[in-house]
Amino acid sequence: MTLIERPRRLRSTSVLRAMVRDTSVVPASLVLPLFIREGLMSPKPIVGMPGVFQHTEDSFRAEIDRALDAGIGGVMIFGIPEKRDPSGSEALNPDGVLSRAIRDARARAGDGLVIVADLCLDEFTSHGHCGVLDNRGNVDNDATLKIYGDMAKVLADSGAHMVGTSGMMDGQVGVVRNALDSAGHTEILILAYAAKFASAFYGPFREAVESQLQGNRNTYQQDPANIKESMREVRLDVSQGADIVMVKPSLAYLDILYAASQAVDVPTASYIVSGEMAMIESAAAQGSIDRERAILEVLGSVKRAGASVICTYWAIEAAQMLKRNPV
Ligand code: PBG
Repeated sequence: MTLIERPRRLRSTSVLRAMVRDTSVVPASLVLPLFIREGLMSPKPIVGMPGVFQHTEDSFRAEIDRALDAGIGGVMIFGIPEKRDPSGSEALNPDGVLSRAIRDARARAGDGLVIVADLCLDEFTSHGHCGVLDNRGNVDNDATLKIYGDMAKVLADSGAHMVGTSGMMDGQVGVVRNALDSAGHTEILILAYAAKFASAFYGPFREAVESQLQGNRNTYQQDPANIKESMREVRLDVSQGADIVMVKPSLAYLDILYAASQAVDVPTASYIVSGEMAMIESAAAQGSIDRERAILEVLGSVKRAGASVICTYWAIEAAQMLKRNPV
């Protein structure tokens, strides 16, 4: 038996495996999504997402401190207002729940975390859509863009380093870039949700933000069947000034993430969404899989598919695991 190639040689010891490893996840690449709910008296757990809460102002501050301690890269803030209306007007309130949270986070963390603010209307509208509606009840792209531009300025004034344009309106990156620049915020980054799919995996998140949505987002979020359409969206966002392009969800869309990361020269991001987390948590809770190994394996898969930035509810815990057991 003369085997010339024996791939197993490279796997024979743990230091050797570490030496030849192609990719590894580092805490600095992880971004933790955080929910802050106006008027809440104590943190409220979210079903299906162990360890994830709607935060009060106090518990939100404590999370910022934990994020700093863990050495993760950033936090992505979602605000849930007490009052909603058809145009989502609370999104433009400089003293609203989101702006206050951004100010707090920035005051505590300075530049020690990248403070990302979600730039979308769905938490603020009474109908739960990511934009305003026209008189036939359809999401009005261009009327929504105007509000996104105004919202970008409010979020940047509050101290966000980066805005996450998650509404999937045509032209949103360009309008937001222009609004930021005209207000003198040329240094604020745009994390473009370039390929965001109309996915079943957002289930637990909708509870987390008390979504009022009836129906679906199929006229603005992408059809899960399409990859060329994603490439078009990514190209458009980069041409309009996106600093980072995101593919979302993660696990059912690793092919899209890989293709996007090969196609553009800006960094790519991936968001391991609420339903993806819930799937792993419930399998682990049943004893079917090893929870820590599964989490690290999933993070590694996203990294391998090309993501520089990984948004995950496991960010703090994963940073602690990585310090013990780097992958
Ligand atoms: C909407 C938004 C969604 C998520 C983040 N921003 C969901 C939606 O389109 O309803 C989902 C995140 C998750 O499921 O973890 N602005």
